[in-house]
Amino acid sequence: MGTTWLRKEVIGDCTLYLGDMRDVLPVLPEKADLVVTDAPYKLTSGGHKNQSMGGKFAKENYDNSGDLMESLPWHEMGGPINRACKANADVYVMCNDKHVSNAEIAFRGADLKMHNLLSWDKGTATRSPFYMKNQEYILYLWKGDAKRPNYGGAKQKFECARPKGLDWHPTPKPTPLMALYVLQSSQPGDLVLDPFMGAGASALASLAFGRRAVMVEINETYFDLACARIEAAQRDGFQQIRADWDRCRAHNKIKGLQYAA
Ligand SMILES: C[S@@+](CC[C@H](N)C(=O)[O-])C[C@H]1O[C@@H](n2cnc3c(N)ncnc32)[C@H](O)[C@@H]1O
Repeated sequence: MGTTWLRKEVIGDCTLYLGDMRDVLPVLPEKADLVVTDAPYKLTSGGHKNQSMGGKFAKENYDNSGDLMESLPWHEMGGPINRACKANADVYVMCNDKHVSNAEIAFRGADLKMHNLLSWDKGTATRSPFYMKNQEYILYLWKGDAKRPNYGGAKQKFECARPKGLDWHPTPKPTPLMALYVLQSSQPGDLVLDPFMGAGASALASLAFGRRAVMVEINETYFDLACARIEAAQRDGFQQIRADWDRCRAHNKIKGLQYAA
């Protein structure tokens, strides 16, 4: 058997592993109460081949091959994620429109059940001749006995701007989006797992609201920069993360899920 992870770091209540989730999840010392993750998948711009795209899809940045980051087949994620959870746990998995059906089939095949399909409205749209794309999707799944979310009045769609200043990662998620699912489906002290940490949004959203976190990331550059980001937020007492949640909570007219200031 090879090495299960390359490095392990501990920052406050967060344990971070540099490695492949397929190796790391089976040997984690504690099962998770909740999974909030944004899975890697092949990512192409779509649309007309002569259309000029900006940002990460700009011709000088990306060849549109689909390999924007390391990825793995959907059917290889569900089993390790299921087995890394406690008997009863919620699992949120983010993906774009092209991957929703394959992701759902794979996670149902891994014995997780589906509550609902949620969405993130990013505000700005990516160009496409077949309707401009301004949303991503979140499979809201569960293992074991279903648990009610902490706030019953939330709608499927959550509006929140894309994060800024994180150009070192191709697909960073906003921390308020992660905070919504952490606050809905866990209690203070619970352990939140993200097997695909990226820039660390789920770790920040967990730690800022008194949860513990366990993170896995395969790319060493992202791992190191996410560790630095989490350390900086911890020094700040996670004030910015909580302020961002508060603003988005109000914008989305969510009346519950206040944190104790
Ligand atoms: C979609 S990104 C996550 C973005 C993250 N939610 C954020 O807010 O920045 C998926 C991440 O999974 C990582 N990854 C890909 N394959 C992996 C594997 N087998 N094990 C662990 N991490 C992996 C990629 O390097 C990438 O950073």
